[in-house]
Amino acid sequence: MTKRTLCAPADIPNHGTRAFPAFTRAHAGLFAIRQNTRVMIYVNACPHLGVPLDWAPGSFLASDGSRIVCATHGAEFEIETGLCQRGPCKGDALESVPYTLEAGMIAVSSAAGL
Ligand code: FES
Repeated sequence: MTKRTLCAPADIPNHGTRAFPAFTRAHAGLFAIRQNTRVMIYVNACPHLGVPLDWAPGSFLASDGSRIVCATHGAEFEIETGLCQRGPCKGDALESVPYTLEAGMIAVSSAAGL
């Protein structure tokens, strides 16, 4: 399976997010969150209606940075797991995307939301 290189971990702001738009309309795109050395990647689609989560391009977090918040109806998701803790899709979760580090760059499967 083909892999796509997203960026280096340091290209994601610490305690911040970065969006990776889809290359085709068939996919939702991805977003990444970095917390020091830990990076989580999710498909940019809310489990409630399947729409993108970002408030503005690349902005996914509550103002205090403690959780992911969907811009459409305000569902709140745990950063580490993607689990919805509050809102219309409580108990559902964002689709987590596995990745590997290849020569210091984050690489995902080409089928993973891109
Ligand atoms: S579309 Fe995300 S909470 Fe409704």
